[in-house]
Amino acid sequence: MREFADKVAVVTGAGGGMGLQIARDLVAGGARVLMIDVKPRPEVIDGEAEDYLYVEADLTDEAAVAAAVEQAADRYGGIDYLANVAGVLWFGQDRSALEIDLDVWDRVLAINLKSMVHTSKHVVPQMKRRGGGAMVHFSSTQCLRGDPAPQDAYQAAKAGVVALSRSLAIQLAGDGIRSNVIFPGPSESPMQARWDENPAQRQATAAAIPLGRVGSAEDMSNACLFLLSDRAAFITGTELLVDGGLQALP
Ligand SMILES: NC(=O)c1ccc[n+]([C@@H]2O[C@H](COP(=O)([O-])OP(=O)(O)OC[C@H]3O[C@@H](n4cnc5c(N)ncnc54)[C@H](O)[C@@H]3O)[C@@H](O)[C@H]2O)c1
Repeated sequence: MREFADKVAVVTGAGGGMGLQIARDLVAGGARVLMIDVKPRPEVIDGEAEDYLYVEADLTDEAAVAAAVEQAADRYGGIDYLANVAGVLWFGQDRSALEIDLDVWDRVLAINLKSMVHTSKHVVPQMKRRGGGAMVHFSSTQCLRGDPAPQDAYQAAKAGVVALSRSLAIQLAGDGIRSNVIFPGPSESPMQARWDENPAQRQATAAAIPLGRVGSAEDMSNACLFLLSDRAAFITGTELLVDGGLQALP
């Protein structure tokens, strides 16, 4: 029996990178998936067409999120899982809090943090109707320390993701709903397209990681599916580093 048979998941940022991998792997495990992304639907998504519903929407638009969640719940009979994966890292524009354009600050916080409030707010009532559920929110190791080349809006938003997740974990434990965070380390994805123009930067990043390589979408999907699954039934309110050992360095 497939691990996610009869389960329904919402995955944000599912138009590419880690989100698309997570959606594919959930469908391969038997789930049906609402995929939300501001990007158009990828040409190829594995699995049967009826197993996924792709909604092109901006997650900062609460009404659009609410409508997508309602459409998925109607089509599939409820929702069990939420993977909040969407995020933006605007190299160049996102800089020190002392000099950042505050419109950029607001937009980065809206996409990286407030969007997760929108999805949680509309998905949790569906989970309660099913008698439980699980959420995984994507933060970043970037929020764990300062950076001489700061991206303060991203850092602050990703720290907020941790606080939000822990708070939801406590609020919702009695409803059988778990909430956890993944901290990806530097990973291959469209977000790191700059490495294609500068492969030396990819190599230098990989060399600094104890396991000797950057992360992959598959690495993040494996961790996410574990935390969503019943194998993590006693895990809530915590964070999982998936960074090849980077944070363990002195
Ligand atoms: N790639 C890395 O090195 C890395 C490292 C640490 C953390 N992360 C985090 O992991 C998560 C996934 O990143 P990724 O590497 O797959 O990046 P990605 O850029 O490939 O994917 C992010 C997706 O979010 C979508 N998105 C952005 N704004 C949106 C909006 N307003 N509404 C709907 N969708 C929107 C994008 O279109 C994109 O498909 C992000 O939260 C990111 O911050 C990534």
